[in-house]
Amino acid sequence: MHFPNKLSTNERAVHLSRRAEAVANRLVRRADKVRARAGLGGRKAAYDDANYEFVGGPGETLRRRHYDKSLRLLWKAEAHAPWLGFEDCSKEERALLQMAEQSMKPAERDALDRITQDEFRAMLKSTYTERERQAIVNVLTAIGHGEAYAWLVSAELLGQVQSTGARTALTMQVLEEAKHFVVLRALMRSFDVPIPRQSAWEYLLLENVLKLDGLEKLFGMNVLVEGIALSFFGLLAGAPGLEILQMFHLDEARHAALPSNYLAEFPMSEWEKKNPVARTRRLKLVLPALLLMPQLEPDLNELGIDAYEFGGSVVAKISALAYRNGFYLPMPRWALLLALDAVFNGWCAATRDEHRWTSFTGFDSTKLEALRRVERRVFYGAA
Ligand SMILES: [Fe+2]
Ligand SMILES: [Fe+2]
Repeated sequence: MHFPNKLSTNERAVHLSRRAEAVANRLVRRADKVRARAGLGGRKAAYDDANYEFVGGPGETLRRRHYDKSLRLLWKAEAHAPWLGFEDCSKEERALLQMAEQSMKPAERDALDRITQDEFRAMLKSTYTERERQAIVNVLTAIGHGEAYAWLVSAELLGQVQSTGARTALTMQVLEEAKHFVVLRALMRSFDVPIPRQSAWEYLLLENVLKLDGLEKLFGMNVLVEGIALSFFGLLAGAPGLEILQMFHLDEARHAALPSNYLAEFPMSEWEKKNPVARTRRLKLVLPALLLMPQLEPDLNELGIDAYEFGGSVVAKISALAYRNGFYLPMPRWALLLALDAVFNGWCAATRDEHRWTSFTGFDSTKLEALRRVERRVFYGAA
């Protein structure tokens, strides 16, 4: 057992939230089906969350021939044309370039050997109980389905941003989201437990983000959804077998920082930042994200993580980023955090045996110091 400090779960509260989610799930999906049939829109994403695929099936051959190949052939200007002044090689690539000049020694060759997929699965099984593996998969597939939407949203944003630089940034984001989707999905499948569909709250959140107009997508995706994803990666990147999430964390940090850099060059008008319709729409986006906390509570409890400490930490971070970028909500940030603490404390007082007032928004759920440093820069603009 890897997580010995289990938190207690209020079965009645879980049952109630599960029932509510099941009803909401049926309602949102049925309503979207009816709307689609009537030609009034419906679900915008061509995405089949029950099968963790896009509509149309796996298309493995295309993936191998295009996606895998383009990554294999990805080249860096620094390596091929150092005279152009690019600094785009990683430390490892630079080390490899140096090594290529010498012949490889047997010990170096051993160090490059990777464990096989079967060995990895066996390691997961010996490290975690089945319930722990299911909990990790339940928590991370919430982000996995989000990666599908991040891929879709960044592809749409690519056509909507101005400047060559912004387009190159969005082009790389599209590529990285594609990589995140297939890599995270392969990682989740290695856990050998059932992969859940989207919950109604994820469905609502991500569909609403995908349907946003223009730059509001930067708030919905790069601030809100990527801020949540960044926090989940920060939460779990230290666990055995999940070390690769540190690489995701680096990419998502860059994506979450994109609005600040883009809006510095192409600022929103005061009206775009502050008009009451936009502020209310942003708040409506945040609400389903908050309902994810009771949804994931039993799984987070299994991992020894307090869902509301995590939720408070996430909202503190993404609200700092949102307000810094001019994506205002109907209330000031301090009032948002106070209201959230009140709601979370009320819920915990009603569902936990012993609960004392806690400042949930004062927690930082990211454990590794290196990742915390990255987050301080992204969320709070620290130097
Ligand atoms: Fe991503
Ligand atoms: Fe991203």
